[in-house]
Amino acid sequence: MEQITLALAKGRPAKSTIDLLEQTGEHFVDLHEDSRKLVFYNTEKTIKVIFVKALDVPTYVEKGAADIGIVGKDNIMESQAEVYELLDLKIGKCKFSVAGKSNQQVNRSQKLTIATKYPNVAKKHFQKKGQPIETVKLNGSVELAPLIGLSDYIVDIVETGSTLKENGLVVLEDIEKISTRLIVNKASFATKATHVQKFINQLKSAME
Ligand code: PRP
Repeated sequence: MEQITLALAKGRPAKSTIDLLEQTGEHFVDLHEDSRKLVFYNTEKTIKVIFVKALDVPTYVEKGAADIGIVGKDNIMESQAEVYELLDLKIGKCKFSVAGKSNQQVNRSQKLTIATKYPNVAKKHFQKKGQPIETVKLNGSVELAPLIGLSDYIVDIVETGSTLKENGLVVLEDIEKISTRLIVNKASFATKATHVQKFINQLKSAME
């Protein structure tokens, strides 16, 4: 059987994803979420796993550098990559929300400034509502922006809600539910159909 390449997102849900992979019956030598190694193989060398930055997973899959990707819906949405999303792994559950200071309502009468790690997601959400915005791209600690007057609101991931609460912010609108998804390169879906489908079925069984 030919080899398929699977891109895995580094970061928070990596451990749950690796645990799930081990449940498929495939054994990946040395695969561990803290490993500095970036390439791994199963025993038969029919599956190659590459460890990449979460936001790059959809790009690897879109360009065909990986046949399959396992990554959060947040990164799939932000990347806008053209890929097939075929399975919800139901791990890493959280949501995209608009949040702001608790005494504010979303003010729609003026152009809003939105701080976010996800400018494409923010633009798409407010565009649908006909609300003009300007985004400020941050790389973390986004909750700080409305507190110090850098933005009117934020668009960010909310999991437990404790980061918002600790900073006196509240959810004003929900945008989308997020969880880890399996994505497939469009060409690989046709040319490696049997192998891709076999791997998806293995994952589905492991999830049961
Ligand atoms: C994420 C996200 C929120 C927080 C939400 O940040 O951007 O800040 O987690 O989680 P909670 O609802 O459970 O509090 P992350 O921890 O990745 O850190 P960052 O601010 O450095 O991006």
